[in-house]
Amino acid sequence: MADHSADIASLGDLTGKRVLVRSDLNVPLDGAPGATRITDDGRIRASVPTIKRLSDAGARVVVVAHLGRPDGAPDPEFSLAPVAARLGELLQRDVAFASDTVGESAMATVAALADGDVAVLENVRFNPGETSKDDDVRRSFAGQLGQLADAFVSDGFGVVHRKQASVYDIALHLPSAMGELVAAEIDVLRRLTVDPERPYVVVLGGSKVSDKLGVIDNLLEKADKLLIGGGMVFTFLAAQGHEVGKSLLEEDQLDICRGYLREAAERGVEIVLPADIVVDTTFPTGDTEPQPQVVAADAIPADALGLDIGPESAKAFASALADAKTVFWNGPMGVFETDAFAGGTRAVADALTRMDGLSVVGGGDSAAAVRQLGFDEAAFGHISTGGGASLEYLEGKELPGIAVLERD
Ligand code: 3PG
Repeated sequence: MADHSADIASLGDLTGKRVLVRSDLNVPLDGAPGATRITDDGRIRASVPTIKRLSDAGARVVVVAHLGRPDGAPDPEFSLAPVAARLGELLQRDVAFASDTVGESAMATVAALADGDVAVLENVRFNPGETSKDDDVRRSFAGQLGQLADAFVSDGFGVVHRKQASVYDIALHLPSAMGELVAAEIDVLRRLTVDPERPYVVVLGGSKVSDKLGVIDNLLEKADKLLIGGGMVFTFLAAQGHEVGKSLLEEDQLDICRGYLREAAERGVEIVLPADIVVDTTFPTGDTEPQPQVVAADAIPADALGLDIGPESAKAFASALADAKTVFWNGPMGVFETDAFAGGTRAVADALTRMDGLSVVGGGDSAAAVRQLGFDEAAFGHISTGGGASLEYLEGKELPGIAVLERD
């Protein structure tokens, strides 16, 4: 990917200018209906530096973002109001909130901004034009958004893989620049793909192999070692001919996994699978305590469900990571939300904090795991705010939200 996108400085003097910033404020809220408790504010915190920089420069900052996947119509369950309140706390200043995105409230809110003020618009996905597959519909909505601002800053890394109005089309309407978060994310991802320092170890977990095919294809050409855990490991174990009991198994991916094992052997890439597994025969019942048992990976009982890599495997993964110079990790090793099945994920996270080199946590569930398990975020080289976006970058796909900034 070329590197000729404009940075914020290229927008010139921002005093008094209305700057529309696309942030990714898609954070998890407490599961209860109507809940407003943010369970992980990592993405809001990561959005602060760009917003603060624009505000300090005297811009009138208008933040546009989405929350969840509402159906193109207002839905109180997906309101950004609690997120705007949290942003205000983090910025330590009042943040105005518009109850629509391009309607009367948005126009009045933006018109009332003084230099340096910040406003958040209501969930951009309450408008069907945001995610429309019809270019004209999207472009026309982007035109409405564009009327609220004099310039656009793209800082929502977690959505740059989406060709959506506030990510892609808006940059065709306004002078545009890349925000600090997007620039930092792209910089790190480039270091994972262009001449990474070796040994380069990739750790993949999460539930499905089918979600990771593109990234495995690409990384088999680049990495020295691939450590595999999480739900996806059972399809690999089955591909080696082992019984996996009641564990997650994607039968239609067995041949593909066999192909990966063969290709890795040919290329001299070491694929490390766990030698032991933490299983439970009762999980998840909801009303009984977990009953974890450690079994050999080639002897999973027929009535057992694999929920984490075992302690021997956790040790082996940690030692494979100890002398790595570059690590990319995406996907938890087990059901880390339950303490009995968090050991593998904890061991991988811990190993990343100890290694001497570039450690990158690839967004989504692994980033949430790091925070939920109480690790100091500063101990990692980089924690991405974009799961899907960073995987697509590593798959070698073009990211529309970046390409549009880099067009000649
Ligand atoms: C994410 O949560 O990965 C981003 O905010 C993108 O959300 P989406 O997958 O709903 O487009």
